[in-house]
Amino acid sequence: MGGFTKNSTVNLTHPKFTMTPELRALFQITQRANYLNHAAVSPLPTPTIEAVQAQLQDVRENGSLNYQDWIAVKEQARKLLANLLGAKPEQVAFMRNTSDGLSTIANGLKWKPGDNIVTFSREFPSNIYPWLRLRNELGVEVRMCEEREGRIVFEELAELVDRSTRLITISHVQYASGFRSDLERLGRLAREHDALLVVDVIQSLGVLPMSVESELVDAAAGAGHKWLMAPEGVGYLYLSDRARERIQPTLVGWISVSDPEDYNNFDQDWNRGSLAWETGTCPMSLIHGLKASLEILTNAGTVSIAQHLENLTDYLCERLKSLDYEVVSSRAPGEKSQIVCIRNRGGLSAMKLYGHLKARNIVTAPRGDRLRIAPHLYNTPGEIDALLEALP
Ligand SMILES: Cc1ncc(COP(=O)(O)O)c(C=O)c1O
Repeated sequence: MGGFTKNSTVNLTHPKFTMTPELRALFQITQRANYLNHAAVSPLPTPTIEAVQAQLQDVRENGSLNYQDWIAVKEQARKLLANLLGAKPEQVAFMRNTSDGLSTIANGLKWKPGDNIVTFSREFPSNIYPWLRLRNELGVEVRMCEEREGRIVFEELAELVDRSTRLITISHVQYASGFRSDLERLGRLAREHDALLVVDVIQSLGVLPMSVESELVDAAAGAGHKWLMAPEGVGYLYLSDRARERIQPTLVGWISVSDPEDYNNFDQDWNRGSLAWETGTCPMSLIHGLKASLEILTNAGTVSIAQHLENLTDYLCERLKSLDYEVVSSRAPGEKSQIVCIRNRGGLSAMKLYGHLKARNIVTAPRGDRLRIAPHLYNTPGEIDALLEALP
């Protein structure tokens, strides 16, 4: 894979705004702020709010009468999600969040002392605590590769993998550097050692093309409130057939079986694919919102979104070269992403920069010693200019 997309070039002149103005109009926040913090929480597009409200209104007026319609929306959302992942719908289970998905994997495998897990020392805590619990409770070793100048060096991570490695777990895109891992390469490494590749995809799904099958991803977890532009409280877990052979459902309930409404039949098999990992009633109104957001993303197209964000972030990084800022994020093809982290060479802290920009209605995020800039599909080159002009 090249950059975000194939044949990418850096263009110092203003990149064209390739998304439509109609799309931008769906985001009310554009009227009052220059919002560049989608790696934290995305503002919700208007159709998403309307979909949530319509479902709640339906419950107010009709109780459970339209229950089957809600289930149909849930299944459409699952299908859209599976399409973004390059998976089959029945391989994707709804969860509360990314942490639940990763914990589900940790708790569903059979561990023995001496097994090890290979990960990265700066993963978001959701992808650390489930594994540390195994270390503390069961004597599983957790091996962490260190960051090198904003990058993960594949060879260093590979050094940590051996015959006792049961899984490699990594974020597709790192929340604190924007570094993008080569999943297929990691997947091959995992398979050479009969280990699973587990990926936290919350910082990439929807804005980077993905194909879990060809990229050899065995399990992927994420949630909707960042790049999927959906309400907080809905997550998902993809399990490949290979992963399902090894991971048991440990948290189960009435909808974990093949015919949930056959209430008195306790002899049922687990539901097919990953559906056994869904336990009970889901946050139905939020899933209605998720479906609306997924439709917007699907209609815009992941390749077009990725290209747009590559244009914006290439432009940002090129212009930063003449300012007093260091780009911490790798901008190498295949390693760059839509997240750009920068440091002020003059020693201004990330918190100071964040506050300075916030006072000017520009929303970014401080992450350690870095300022994180994370535009989405509706952001414009003019908003990048405004950020550059406002930086102290
Ligand atoms: C890489 C990564 N994983 C997970 C999360 C969130 O985890 P959860 O969905 O469990 O709240 C975040 C951000 O908040 C993140 O940056």
